[in-house]
Amino acid sequence: MKFLRLLVLLLVLPAYSQQGGMWIPSLLKGMNETEMKNLGMKMSASDIYDVNKSSLKDAVPQFNGGCTSEVISSKGLLLTNHHCGFGEIQAHSTVEHDYLTDGFWAMSLEEELPNPDLEVTFIVKIEDVTSQILNGVSDISSEAEKQKKVQENIASLTKSSPKEAWQENRIRTFYEGNQYILFVVESYKDVRLVGAPPSSIGKFGSDTDNWVWPRHTGDFSLFRIYADKNNRPAAYSKDNVPYTPKHFLPVSIKGVEEDDFTLVFGYPGRTTEYLPSVAVEQIVNNLNPAKIEIRDKALKVADGFMRKDKAIKIQYASKYASIANYWKKWIGETQGLKKSNAIEIKKKFEKEFLEKVNKAGKQAEYGNLFADFEKNYAEIAPYALSRDYFTEVVLRNTELLTIGYRLYQLEQVYNSRGEQSFKDRKEATIKALEETYKDFNATVDEKVFEQLIELYATKAPKQFLPATLKNADYKKLTDRVYDSKLTSYKGLKELLSGDAKAVMAKINADKGYQFVKSLADTYLKEVSPKYDEINLKIAALQRTYMKGILELSPKEARIFPDANSTLRVTYGKVKGYSPSDAVTYSHTTYLDGVMEKYIPGDYEFDVPAKLIDLYNKKDYGQYGKKGKMPVCFIGTNHTTGGNSGSPAIDAKGNLIGLNFDRVWEGTMSDIYYDPAICRNIMVDMRYVLFIIDKYAGAKHLINEMKIVGGKK
Ligand code: ARG
Ligand code: ASP
Repeated sequence: MKFLRLLVLLLVLPAYSQQGGMWIPSLLKGMNETEMKNLGMKMSASDIYDVNKSSLKDAVPQFNGGCTSEVISSKGLLLTNHHCGFGEIQAHSTVEHDYLTDGFWAMSLEEELPNPDLEVTFIVKIEDVTSQILNGVSDISSEAEKQKKVQENIASLTKSSPKEAWQENRIRTFYEGNQYILFVVESYKDVRLVGAPPSSIGKFGSDTDNWVWPRHTGDFSLFRIYADKNNRPAAYSKDNVPYTPKHFLPVSIKGVEEDDFTLVFGYPGRTTEYLPSVAVEQIVNNLNPAKIEIRDKALKVADGFMRKDKAIKIQYASKYASIANYWKKWIGETQGLKKSNAIEIKKKFEKEFLEKVNKAGKQAEYGNLFADFEKNYAEIAPYALSRDYFTEVVLRNTELLTIGYRLYQLEQVYNSRGEQSFKDRKEATIKALEETYKDFNATVDEKVFEQLIELYATKAPKQFLPATLKNADYKKLTDRVYDSKLTSYKGLKELLSGDAKAVMAKINADKGYQFVKSLADTYLKEVSPKYDEINLKIAALQRTYMKGILELSPKEARIFPDANSTLRVTYGKVKGYSPSDAVTYSHTTYLDGVMEKYIPGDYEFDVPAKLIDLYNKKDYGQYGKKGKMPVCFIGTNHTTGGNSGSPAIDAKGNLIGLNFDRVWEGTMSDIYYDPAICRNIMVDMRYVLFIIDKYAGAKHLINEMKIVGGKK
């Protein structure tokens, strides 16, 4: 009896537990399919991924490398987030046609706007190629040589694997070098802007609400894929026609209830779920706090200027949002890792892992792992911290230094490859920096520099500081550095005019450049080679650790590969959560909440008059429910950056939501996924359709979709 109950528990538990995981779509048969069906899924694994017939994967392309999107009509209509299409919406905006502020809706195909650099990429086929890639690798003893061989094998298989002329082979590693998978992909390059709500809907709540639940953002935008006459990828041409997809997602307006099955399909970027506890300790105690402090200072300076000056506000809007996004994420992540006791939990896991190692008699292979991790993480600590200071201060938050670093690379190209390479690089640099200077403000940047350089000098590891930073008078240093030609585009072009010799002489006489050079020289000599060397050892240890986890874990342990920007399936349920004592969040927000947050004229919480009007009249058409308009909902799907724009799909394969964020208490999920509090945030498709139909009056777009789940 007791045994039976235990058996039932064992069979039932894994199926109903919501433990996260980002799974490879071609390998769902078995454990995942069973779990999904137990959670309520009515499809089979081959409805999600199949090479021989159309399946869900044919409707889910990666959007411009960093986000996800989905096809929602037979005419190539494409849905993604507002924040994913932000760059395109901004690029088409002028003072007269300010689509960011007012929204944009193409009322016919002719009005759809082309985007020169935008592409979406579909997965045609997924194939395990581990044995080919690891062929001849295990006999090599040096780690660097091993990696070289792996890279050679990848290059040759990428070249030799069969594919159509317009397709591309891509090989990616899974489980830290324990598995290799080949993706045959096709990229469509004519993708036009179809519609976007105003930012007061698409970006409602902005940075204040970012990473936070309850949320009320209509974070969506619409595009359309165009193809040549044979439905194949082609560069923009007015002769191109709307793409006919192999599959598109029907949109459900049935609505969601607590515990409904959800599946999120997309391209999660990067997670590190199997780090040893020492690594997490370093992130929590050293690296995250340093990065947060740097961005904190940079953001405060920018914010001060943005509040006083409208022009600066526009110049810095996009930069500010992007710097603030990860600044806020690291704060949430650090808090979450502490609160969830991630380090202690990992230590316990490591202890149990060692017990299994001993039991299995595998001490020789895995017995020293944690001691080796300890040693290497201790050794890398100052290098990793220096690297973060250099990256954050020079390459990310002080634009004059970032620009200077590009010239530094130009000088290196000249030294290593000569005059012609220098010339090409110089032209490309001048062209690329034109955009940067449009949004560059030397006064703001100088203030940022003054703050950040003091942090760099006082908090980065002393042994790797250049002489220019030792005992510096920061005010004087700032004055000197900003007495540079790099403070204007005109000045930059002056510095870069003439042949290589002339340019080298001019830049090396510039005080701003001299300073960047002192930082970069020191970093590239003292920090990065040693960092790379230790990091290579850590990567090898991590690969061994991963192998051990795969080998020694019980079958039901659900070991999923870390995210690596490849197509993944994650699934769970619609579910609220309770982040702390006496606090409980429910799973859906409504338009009422938008009105509660409404601050007239505010740059984050303004609400368009038309939306207020629809709210007052409760004019929700077929999209409302019991007199209320749902806006966003949350679920237990394990997502990360890159999953933005991912479809949330119901038990039968219909689109119910559009993923765009995670909740504050669960932002640590990239390192430690806690099923009790980690939730992804989605826009309810009923809100998306309501905005398109009732707010924008773009009924023709609704007509082109396949709407299901309405009242009969
Ligand atoms: N936090 C979300 C993600 O990581 C949304 C970011 C865009 N929104 C913003 N306010 N910056 O990308
Ligand atoms: N907002 C993220 C994205 O843009 C998604 C996330 O990190 O949850 O991909």
